Amino acid sequence: MIHLDNVSWRRGKKDSAPVLAHLSFMVPQGGFRWLLGPSGAGKSSLLSLLHIENLPTDGQMTILGKTVAQEEKRAALVRLRQRIGMVHQDYQLMPDLSVADNVALPLRLQNRPEDEIQDEVHAILKWVGLGSRTDVPANRLSGGEQQRTAIARAIIHRPGLILADEPTNALEESQSCRLLDMFAELSAMGTTVVVATHNESLVRRLERPFLFLEHGRLVDDGGEQP
Ligand SMILES: Nc1ncnc2c1ncn2[C@@H]1O[C@H](COP(=O)(O)OP(=O)(O)OP(=O)(O)O)[C@@H](O)[C@H]1O
Ligand SMILES: [Mg+2]
Repeated sequence: MIHLDNVSWRRGKKDSAPVLAHLSFMVPQGGFRWLLGPSGAGKSSLLSLLHIENLPTDGQMTILGKTVAQEEKRAALVRLRQRIGMVHQDYQLMPDLSVADNVALPLRLQNRPEDEIQDEVHAILKWVGLGSRTDVPANRLSGGEQQRTAIARAIIHRPGLILADEPTNALEESQSCRLLDMFAELSAMGTTVVVATHNESLVRRLERPFLFLEHGRLVDDGGEQP
């Protein structure tokens, strides 16, 4: 589960304006939240914080049941981050690695046997419609192919928390719908899911509570009380 208690985050110095200010909300295990708000509101910044790429400047943040502190050892944060699947807005694939090797990364970090890895990668790439593109380097992919590779990489290790930043903006409508159905299914099975989007028809398709950001502040916290 996720719990933020009066969390603020500044990009630079202590006296700079906070990008995220006084955020308090919780998402229970298996909860699904839309993350909405205008461009520049701080959606990607909040997802980076939940992905523990940055730490709160103020306040307390609990991710997957663990309270993350500034003085935490880096190795502990990396281990926690490995339990989170993240689809970045700009995908952040390894450009020289093949589609299959990008998607295999989370499983290799878990030291899973190579034959198991190959089977799982093959199955998930087939599911996202990239079964014939496995050996292509990521820097030769179209936008939609990159996005589907990033989605496969984010879910292949069945993380307890999935964070997705505009995960459908390069997808066809039918692909977006399948992805949404899968997120809903994963959430029903106990995975916590947070999806930032501008796609209103997607939000209408799956009615779930939303976190609404404006100028780095939460104007709707999804309604769940800690
Ligand atoms: N690399 C950066 N350096 C400095 N400021 C940045 C940087 N990235 C984002 N910002 C600023 O931080 C604020 C929050 O940006 P963020 O990317 O989190 O918004 P967003 O809600 O994800 O927007 P969008 O819907 O366009 O993706 C904005 O004011 C933005 O201009
Ligand atoms: Mg963004």
